[in-house]
This record gives sequence, C-alpha cells and structure tokens, in this order.
Amino acid sequence: MTDFEVGNIAATAVLTAKMRALETGRPEPLISDPYAACLVEHSGLDMASVQLEQMTGQRLFESNIVRTHFLDTSLQAAIAGGVTQVVILGSGLDTRVARLELPSQCVVFEIDQANVIAYKKRVYSEEGVVVPADWRPRSGDLEGDWIGDLTTAGFDPEVATAWVIEGVLFYFSDDVVAKLIQTVSDYSAQGSQLLAVHFGAGALVEAQTREMAAAATNAGGYGFKSIVAEPVGWLDEYGWDVEAETFGSAAQRLGRTIPYDIEETPGQEIAWLIKAVKR
Ligand SMILES: C[S@@+](CC[C@H](N)C(=O)[O-])C[C@H]1O[C@@H](n2cnc3c(N)ncnc32)[C@H](O)[C@@H]1O
Repeated sequence: MTDFEVGNIAATAVLTAKMRALETGRPEPLISDPYAACLVEHSGLDMASVQLEQMTGQRLFESNIVRTHFLDTSLQAAIAGGVTQVVILGSGLDTRVARLELPSQCVVFEIDQANVIAYKKRVYSEEGVVVPADWRPRSGDLEGDWIGDLTTAGFDPEVATAWVIEGVLFYFSDDVVAKLIQTVSDYSAQGSQLLAVHFGAGALVEAQTREMAAAATNAGGYGFKSIVAEPVGWLDEYGWDVEAETFGSAAQRLGRTIPYDIEETPGQEIAWLIKAVKR
C-alpha cells in the first residue's frame, strides 16, 4: 500500500508532478522543477509509460505547464512586490517553496490531505531538499474548517497574502467553491493576491476536457463539479480586482499550443488563469 492509490484524488498530484518533471527535461522548458521526478519515484505509482514524446502537444500536459508557469511568475512578482505570507491550497506535490527559492522572510503555508502533506515532508527530508522560507505544511480539508488549521499554524489575516490555488477548484461543487472563496476573501488583508486557475464554460463542451472529466469520475468518483463562466464579475463580488486570461491565449503568447477541439469564443472559454488583488 502506498500513500497514493491509483485513481484516488492524491494520485492526480503525482501525475501533475510527472508532467512537471517531463517539462523540466524538455528543450527550452517553461518551468523548472528539479524535485518533481523524485516525488514521482518515491510515490510507488508506475508512471514510466508517461513519456515526453507521448505528452508533448497533449491538451492536459500543455495546459498544466502553462498554468504552472503563470502561477510561478505571478507568485514571484507578488513576492518581489513585498508580499511575505503565502498560502497554497491543495498544494499536492507543488514544490514552489523550494524550487522558486522563496526567501527566508516568507512564511509559506500549504494545505492538503494528511497523506499528501506527510509524503512530501518525508521525501523532502530524505532527499535533503533545502527550503529557505518558513515552510508550514499542514493537513486540512478544503471542504471543512481548513481556515482553523491555517490560523492554528500562525496565519496572520492582517498581513497581505498571496494565495495559490492550482488544479483544485474543479473538484468542488459551486457551493463549496463559494464558501472557500468567501473564506479566502474574509481572511485577505487589502493588497492580498489571489492566484488561481479554474475551468470555464467551454470545458463543458470541449471533447478532451469532457473525456478527462469522465475518466476521472469513473476512476475515483470525482471529476468536474464546477466551472466559472466569467471570473472578473465573479470575484469582484468578493472584493477583488481581477485580471483573467485564458489558458489558450497565454499558451499562444508563450509559443505553445493547446489543441482544443472547439474554438474559444467569449462565453465559451475553456480554462482561466486568474490574478486578483484585494481592494
Ligand atoms: C490535481 S492535484 C493538484 C496539486 C497541486 N496544486 C499541483 O498543481 O500540483 C489536486 C490536489 O488537491 C488536493 N485536494 C483535493 N480535495 C481536497 C480537500 N478536500 N482537502 C484538501 N486537499 C484536497 C489533493 O489531495 C491534491 O493534492
């Protein structure tokens, strides 16, 4: 028995890390994650068949790399702008705290399921991964009282925070997402940044996205539970000034292509990169 049973929700974190490992080895990579490969290896899941040649040009792979690039650069900009408190929700096997060398004056909280948090702490310790920041990984249920866990860990709501939410919101129903965003908003001092990704209305009609959701649902009883049709108005209601770009547009800017089977049109965007600042 490993921490990551195939098909369970935590296994998706291993696949995501595998994609980051593959991108790291690609010519002219958009991101670099030197720890991803060892996190995959230690997991006990057999990802040997997931190879770069097979993944290059795939919708899931290209999308994941574009989103990680966006969140890396946005988080680095927030920190360069003076933010010292970071919260990564559903952090999975995200290694930003180490690979972006987040500075020692930063407090970085991570919340995920207990087995994922324990696993990452163990691998970092065994591999001697150096974390310059004040790193506080904690187990918590994002559908429950995670803010209590965060506060107990020393989170300060009076300090501007950079929140990172990557590859997580679509697991939750609209009600759960609304509650989570309300909590993030209530605990965000002015100037806080919300860096997140979510699917748009086009995801409900794009064939590969639908297939992926169906496969995930069949494997583990979960899949797409929510989308956000229009992020600017949505987050404005919670007190945020929002910039949003589609994954497709960002990919194009970065010289990559995400092979969708529909054309994205206003109101039918497939996935959103969201950067919001708390008023
Ligand atoms: C697809 S992975 C993404 C992980 C990471 N953000 C990344 O991009 O590499 C989704 C993560 O959400 C976590 N997750 C899902 N539901 C959760 C919940 N209710 N409470 C805490 N974590 C949860 C999973 O354990 C998993 O690590």
